[in-house]
Amino acid sequence: MTEAGGVNVGKAERLLRAGRLVAFPTETVYGLGADASSKDAIARLYAVKGRPGDHPVIVHFADAKKAFEWAREVPAAAHKLAAKFWPGPLTLILQRAPHVGDFVTGGQDTVGLRVPAHPMAHELLAAFGGGLAAPSANRFGRVSPTTAQHVRDDLGADVDLVLDGGPCGVGIESTIVDLSRGHAVLLRPGGIGAVELEAVLGEPVSLPDAEAPRVSGSLPAHYAPRTPARLVGGEALEAEIARLGEAAAVLAFSAPDERVDFWLRMPKEPVAYAQKLYAALRELDGTGSKMLLIEAPPDFPEWRAVLDRLRRAARD
Ligand code: TXA
Ligand code: MG
Repeated sequence: MTEAGGVNVGKAERLLRAGRLVAFPTETVYGLGADASSKDAIARLYAVKGRPGDHPVIVHFADAKKAFEWAREVPAAAHKLAAKFWPGPLTLILQRAPHVGDFVTGGQDTVGLRVPAHPMAHELLAAFGGGLAAPSANRFGRVSPTTAQHVRDDLGADVDLVLDGGPCGVGIESTIVDLSRGHAVLLRPGGIGAVELEAVLGEPVSLPDAEAPRVSGSLPAHYAPRTPARLVGGEALEAEIARLGEAAAVLAFSAPDERVDFWLRMPKEPVAYAQKLYAALRELDGTGSKMLLIEAPPDFPEWRAVLDRLRRAARD
């Protein structure tokens, strides 16, 4: 069942208090929300997502004050990043407060916190008052949803209510920064880049090492369409099209080639590209083509978050 905002936020709030699942829009992707204080609600959430129990979820709040109540201590770096980027597409990993359940952290001693910017998410979180666990509202390992229809296509009757807030503005998941280990580590690139983070922190942000906590979005085959996909440079694209012909569906910067039936042309600018990416992957995934060919964007820092998702989508 899908409903617009307004009074339906009240309905969503009641369902959440009863331990049910409500999908809601955020500025990044749609989240599948559940009461983060309820073990039963989180068990339901994991069952519907098909997510392994040791994978932590992000907990969402209406404001930074509420979010930080879930942290044992809040380092200065967290205050700085929150002041600059919340509400917004940033998740902070902090040491968890004693009341935070193992069932949201996957048994780790840290918790992921985020204050989303979407007005409907904010309205829901403010009405609910507490924390809402909200992984992307797709089955585990699949492409994240950026419209209410994507959520319905994936989860059907398994979700009790879908709040429809239109297409997501950012289009890819939040940037995740781990501040639980004394220095900032970028666990997942997103709309907020390393350069912006470093400008606020006044120090370099490192990339994950072997000690980094588990992030399901960092599994190689995450965010994957069902159709095998290949990431190819501009010249290789031409050769692959010649080889595959109409067996291919193409996501590219260039104009369509008549040998291919399903061709989506993407923006040459990373922010606009990210916004369209998941809807495009879903559309091409539904064409029955044998192979998705994705023209690789340039390997520049501003493309990092998009490239990260494309590399995971292209398993072949
Ligand atoms: O943009 C987003 O972050 C979206 C929207 C709905 O807010 N949510 C999202 O959630 O992408 P999910 O569960 O699909 O991805 C959350 C990622 C996972 O890779 C998870 O492993 C990681 O965050 N994560 C959560 N808590 C963590 C923790 N304590 N330590 C390390 N990673 C954590
Ligand atoms: Mg996800």
